[in-house]
Amino acid sequence: MVIRSATFVKSSASYKDCPKEAFPEYAFLGRSNVGKSSLINMITGHGKLAKTSVSPGKTRLINHFLINDSWFLTDLPGYGFAKVPVAVKKKWEKTIRDYLLKRTHLLCSFILLDIRHGPMKNDMSFLQWVGENQLPFCLVYTKSDKLSRTRLKKHVAEYENTLSNQWEPLPPIIISSSSTGEGKEDILGLIERCNKDFLASMMP
Ligand code: GTP
Ligand code: MG
Repeated sequence: MVIRSATFVKSSASYKDCPKEAFPEYAFLGRSNVGKSSLINMITGHGKLAKTSVSPGKTRLINHFLINDSWFLTDLPGYGFAKVPVAVKKKWEKTIRDYLLKRTHLLCSFILLDIRHGPMKNDMSFLQWVGENQLPFCLVYTKSDKLSRTRLKKHVAEYENTLSNQWEPLPPIIISSSSTGEGKEDILGLIERCNKDFLASMMP
């Protein structure tokens, strides 16, 4: 898919304030610092669309971006960020969960996992919650450029081992790097297929 335009629409503190247009929507989720904002910039080819930071906790609101004047990408706060008060952390988590449950045209969530680290408890419990609520999602391993191909294979196998305790069959998985562009075509291809299905479902 060719990205012809990518524009920031608005930041919202709650799903209630999100844009009202009924465009297909795709969310980027995962722990703080996993690379959500960087991945949005990489797949859109707009380096400064979403704000990134070396320190975790940069994205604090639900940010909507309109792509090709026809679909939304959303950048969300990370879960599990330790350096904010528990009350703030809980509020962010509630914001994310309410958004995921209430956003009618959210066709697929991309749940990001840092491939350098093994499966982490808060990732696995978040995935369990997503599964229990039957929300469509795709897993995306991030920062693949930070590992050798041998280590990458090893970490992918470790993740799959842990995931298979919880998932049968495994959810779709994409390996990505915002530095090298790996995974871009896979992510955009999935979005393109969902957009087509969405349009077809709207036909009388
Ligand atoms: P929060 O908004 O704080 O939840 O973080 P985030 O998930 O949006 O992460 P962000 O995109 O801000 O990236 C965090 C840090 O990781 C930044 O320093 C990025 O440059 C770096 N980073 C993100 N993706 C990659 C990647 O694929 N490869 C490498 N090498 N660094 C990355
Ligand atoms: Mg961010």
